[in-house]
Amino acid sequence: MNIFFPKEPDNEPRVALTIETAIKFQKKGIKILIEKNLSNHLGITDKKFEEHGVKSVSRQDGFSDADIICNVRNLSEEELDLVKPSTLVVSFLDPFNEKSLVKKINDKEISAISMELIPRITRAQKMDALSSQANLAGYSAVILASNELEKALPMMMTAAGTISPSKVFVIGVGVAGLQAIATAKRLGAKVEAFDTRPVVAEQVKSLGARFLKIDIGETGETEQGYAKELTKDQINKQQEGMKKACASSDVVITTAQVFGRPAPTLVTKEMVSAMSPGSVIVDMAVGTGGNVEGSIPDQITEVDGVKIIGNTNLPGELPVHSSQVYASNIYNLIEEFWDEETKELTLDEKDEILSICLISHKKEYINPTIKEIMQ
Ligand code: NAI
Repeated sequence: MNIFFPKEPDNEPRVALTIETAIKFQKKGIKILIEKNLSNHLGITDKKFEEHGVKSVSRQDGFSDADIICNVRNLSEEELDLVKPSTLVVSFLDPFNEKSLVKKINDKEISAISMELIPRITRAQKMDALSSQANLAGYSAVILASNELEKALPMMMTAAGTISPSKVFVIGVGVAGLQAIATAKRLGAKVEAFDTRPVVAEQVKSLGARFLKIDIGETGETEQGYAKELTKDQINKQQEGMKKACASSDVVITTAQVFGRPAPTLVTKEMVSAMSPGSVIVDMAVGTGGNVEGSIPDQITEVDGVKIIGNTNLPGELPVHSSQVYASNIYNLIEEFWDEETKELTLDEKDEILSICLISHKKEYINPTIKEIMQ
């Protein structure tokens, strides 16, 4: 059994393999192939990998020799032509937006696991790449914001006077939001947060932050713990309730997402303009439509002196650690379905994890939503 790790596109600094996971795979009798120069940019040379039994090969050879191909980003349609039928590809596949790629995978009888569809259940936590990446993204958002802010975050009492703490407002308290709150608190900021799921209020308080109460009526969450989409009227109420908190904040971090839907616009141009010049907003949802009016993917824009950061790859700001945890998610996934006796991967489509994250297998669409969309 060979697993191939191809190089990622130029704009993706994360990788799906580390020395540690390479060693663990090989202990299971799995051969590891990497594309030449896979992790040079992270200071991990091919020589270092080779010292641990990994073979570096060309992209073409890797594709033809692989039984499993693991990436952060997906392969292109042209590259899938170089992959043997029945190979398993594993990556952030973005299947709801990449229908033509999904069709090609199915047509070519390739099997595919989409890392963003690993279900949020206890058994799958060790493979949950959305969480492992969102956690680092939350940290990264605060660090980037503090870099752009022309103020310090903590309170400082000095002989030259007292500097008051900066105020950080976090909108959306999932995995990324919780880490953003924790990071801003560690740096000494005064933190306030809001989420439509009232259950998170306790978690916000336990991190020493204040939960902003806004009455927007009945809200809910799905079985997987995701927020349900709000009505237009509820969004208006939420915006009204957040106006004051935004205007008095030095940093606003928005992380609000609704699974499978575009992100809701929560911070309007008017709310941005009401903030003090020099304030900073990080729109963590910019890649899925954005929570902030005026945010642009992969740019820092300025509206009335307020900087809006629209970084679409926040975990990529910390590629060593985001690769470490992603590689570990990938290893845990393969290990979970590895049969020690046959030395093969057993993909049971009825398994509670695979029935969701497996997109296509043996020419059948497996994930129920993908099945519906593709038929
Ligand atoms: P996400 O990235 O889908 O959304 C981020 C946050 O935005 C969520 O907390 C959501 O409630 C909030 N949000 C949506 N619309 C909003 C609005 N209009 N205003 C303010 N906030 C809004 O969420 P993430 O981080 O992927 O987590 C989703 C859920 O899954 C959470 O409940 C989390 O605790 C749970 N989870 C469970 C795991 C498990 O293994 N059991 C693992 C990871 C997460």
